[in-house]
Amino acid sequence: MTPRSVRITGWGMYAPERRLTNADLARVVDTSDEWIVSRTGIRERRIAARHETTATLAAIAGKRAIAVAGLEPDDIDVILVATLTPDYWMPSTGALVKEAIGNTRAAAMDIAAACSGLVYAYTVADAYLRSGMFKHALVVGSETLSRYLDFSDRGTCILFGDGAGAMVLSASDEEGGGMRGMELTTDPDGAYMIWLPSGGSRSPASGQTLARGEHYVRMEGKETYRYATKTMATTALKAIERAGWKPEEIDLFIPHQANVRIIESVAKGLGLPMEKMFVNLDRYGNTSAASVGIALAEAVDSGRIKVGDKIVLVAFGAGLTSGGIALEWTADPLNGKRAATVEPVATVREPLDWSSVDPIPDRLRQVLEGNAGPRVPLDDVVPGEPEPANRDEVLA
Ligand code: UT7
Repeated sequence: MTPRSVRITGWGMYAPERRLTNADLARVVDTSDEWIVSRTGIRERRIAARHETTATLAAIAGKRAIAVAGLEPDDIDVILVATLTPDYWMPSTGALVKEAIGNTRAAAMDIAAACSGLVYAYTVADAYLRSGMFKHALVVGSETLSRYLDFSDRGTCILFGDGAGAMVLSASDEEGGGMRGMELTTDPDGAYMIWLPSGGSRSPASGQTLARGEHYVRMEGKETYRYATKTMATTALKAIERAGWKPEEIDLFIPHQANVRIIESVAKGLGLPMEKMFVNLDRYGNTSAASVGIALAEAVDSGRIKVGDKIVLVAFGAGLTSGGIALEWTADPLNGKRAATVEPVATVREPLDWSSVDPIPDRLRQVLEGNAGPRVPLDDVVPGEPEPANRDEVLA
């Protein structure tokens, strides 16, 4: 039987305890608190502890969202984890999250759409539930970006942080509520504006790729910024129009938390005041696929969202992708208190005969321990184009 609506019934977030401030970063790369705050709005970000991974972060946020929905883990029929920093290439992080939350019956998989991933995953879950195939979906955005950053590249290491945000979507027999309009875009013209060169089939990890630092995120910041300011407002607007609404009717926007200047330009583009934009990037930085989920959970729990509100989730990211969802809020915000019953602990089983390396990159470890040595001179860092591989040598 097909439901009358599909609604958000649970929400939850988790951010690791360890904070990395702008001042900490200014000790290792040529930057300053003043530059980072004025150009991005970011003051600090969270860093996953050694024992934490994308799956453990996701499991804690997910268990919180399930508790808020008033469900048990085994009530979940499908688990979608949006991430660009999975625990492994396989199995999926979704499979690990399933075990870690104590679910025995769900289908589980990952969704790769970078920072737009959670918005994309929401639409996939919504379609499953609307079709009548499943009743409850757990949708999580989770990232441990600190493991994929070059802490000598000031263009990227100041921006990103670790965390997870989750939602439960449930099929309902009641009319109204949930997603009313959406827009998803993918523009491969910008495929190499934000990318991670090695580790995939195009350039498997090797001693050479490691030496060239191609296992770290690379980004053309300025180009990405231009794309984001152009795309976020139009993507949000299309979702709003498809809902039959006008921008001024929206009670709160939950934008991807990349840069406060990008969010300001979205507000300007839609002719709205900044009070309509939820911002928490000052405390978490850019947590990629997790950012919209963390922001939504904080917005509800801080009293910014009430039943009947019109909400817009909007994100952009590598691909280049963008996604917008215009939705009507139906859940009692006070249910958020149930998240407190979930301890911030999750364990992902490892193979008995295997133990991984220290997951924290050397340079980050030095930063955290306060002994990173002198700042890296700028001309020692070559982010952007990786060195081309010698094709003839490879093919010989
Ligand atoms: O989820 C999507 C992920 N990506 C993004 O959201 C990135 C979008 N882009 C941005 O947010 C901004 O472009 C950045 C924050 C990355 C950079 O800000 P900007 O205002 O576009 O700076 P810029 O790249 O134009 O650089 C201005 C100056 C340059 O120096 P010169 O050439 O003017 O002497 C940079 O070398 O600032 C310098 N700079 C820095 N200075 C201090 C670049 N990064 C830093 C830094 N600290 N961390």
